[in-house]
Amino acid sequence: MKPSKSLITLSIASVLSLSAMHATASDTVPLKVMADALHAVLDSDRAIYTKKVVGRLVKKEKVIKASEHFIDDKALPLPAQMFRMGAENVAERIADNPDVNFSYSLQSLWPINSQNAPKTNAEKEGLKFIADNPGKNYYIKEELGGKKYFTAIYPDVGVAPVCVSCHNKHKDSPKTDFKIGEVMGGVVIRIPVDG
Ligand code: HEC
Repeated sequence: MKPSKSLITLSIASVLSLSAMHATASDTVPLKVMADALHAVLDSDRAIYTKKVVGRLVKKEKVIKASEHFIDDKALPLPAQMFRMGAENVAERIADNPDVNFSYSLQSLWPINSQNAPKTNAEKEGLKFIADNPGKNYYIKEELGGKKYFTAIYPDVGVAPVCVSCHNKHKDSPKTDFKIGEVMGGVVIRIPVDG
C-alpha cells in the first residue's frame, strides 16, 4: 500500500522536529561565517537607512535634513551615527552575556570623529590592508587584555558622490582628496574566542 501524502508530510515534519530537538550547544558556526553574517546584516541596515530613509526624505521628498547635530537641528542622524548608536546599544545589551559578547565599529585611518580611529595593532594593519587591497576583507586572531578574539575587517567604500564630498569638505576630516570608489574606512567586528 502506498503511504498517503499527508502521512509522508507528517513523517517528514516529525523527522525535522526531532533533528531540531537534537541540536546541541556544540553545533557551532565557524567564526568567519558568523562575522560575515553579522556584517551582511549591519551593512544592509546601513545601506537601507541611507537609501530608503535619508535619501528618500532628504533628497527626494525634501521634508527633513540629515545633520551631524541632529538633536539641535531636529534632523535625521547621519548613517555613520546610526551605526555607532546601534553598536553602543549592542554593547550595553550584551555586557552581561560573555557568550555573545561581540562588538563592532565603523573606523577609518582618516576619521572625522577621532573616536573612530583604529586603536589595536590588528585594526591599524587591517584598515591599511583593506585600503591597499580593494575588494578584500581582513581576518585575524588577536589577544587583548588576556582574552582572545577573532577580528574581521570589511572595506567601507565611497559608493556615492555624497560620501566623498561630505568627508572631503568636513572641517574635522584629516583627508580631503577621497575619490569615488575608494575605500574610506572599514567595519571592524570582534568576536570572543574560547581558550
Ligand atoms: C553629510 C556628511 C556625510 C556623508 C554624506 C557621509 N558621511 Fe561618513 N561620516 C560623517 C561624519 C560626521 C562621521 C563621523 C560620525 C561619528 O560621529 O561617528 C562619519 C563617519 C564615517 C566613517 C567612520 C570614520 C570617520 O570618518 O569618523 C566612515 C568609514 C564613513 N563615514 C564612510 C562614509 C561612506 C562610505 C559614506 C557614503 C556611503 C559616508 N560616509 C557618507 C559624515 C558623512
